[in-house]
Amino acid sequence: MKVTTYQVPETDFQFTPENLELAKSYMTRYPEGRQASAVIWLLYLAQEQNGGWLSVPAIEYVAGFLNMAPIRVHEVVSFYTMFYTEPRGKHHIQVCRTTSCWVRGSDDIVKSCMQAAGISKLGETSEDGLFTVSEVECLGACCNAPMFQLNEGDYFEDLTPERAAEIVEELRAGKTPKPGSQTGRLSSEPEGGATTLTEIQADSRGDA
Ligand code: FES
Repeated sequence: MKVTTYQVPETDFQFTPENLELAKSYMTRYPEGRQASAVIWLLYLAQEQNGGWLSVPAIEYVAGFLNMAPIRVHEVVSFYTMFYTEPRGKHHIQVCRTTSCWVRGSDDIVKSCMQAAGISKLGETSEDGLFTVSEVECLGACCNAPMFQLNEGDYFEDLTPERAAEIVEELRAGKTPKPGSQTGRLSSEPEGGATTLTEIQADSRGDA
């Protein structure tokens, strides 16, 4: 099946054979002639392969791959905050600062993470290259505020400044801190435990 016609330009970036196959499979999800719709998928792929950020060659490689003018892809990259044009630390801590998290103390979570990571300015990367700390807008876990997201994956919820610092130390030590609620509550149940449907066992709610 013909995917599309494209000319990949000569750049310092190229998809690995595995990512090349993935990129082609993403493009088949769109009607013929609409392969540019796969741009977000391909940028994510390129960002992941490039160590968590998009260099100009990587952006322009994706543009060539999709037969798009490079400026169109630069526009996408500069619009969405989940694309990064500078190297990030190995652990990118993104603290939510929107209303629910803010009223529950996100400012203190940010300070605590920065102090533990050895960072003096938001968005900075620690000298050891291990940590970047940023503030982001609502990540959809408002019930368990305050919280942060680690890289493109786990959520750490119901944080306190002390627990946030501990998580940073665990990451520094090469450990894998347990994601989810840091107080042990199930999903978004009340802090004091379930008050309704209490006869239903945790494992039958799919949370245990
Ligand atoms: S306000 Fe922080 S997750 Fe929604």
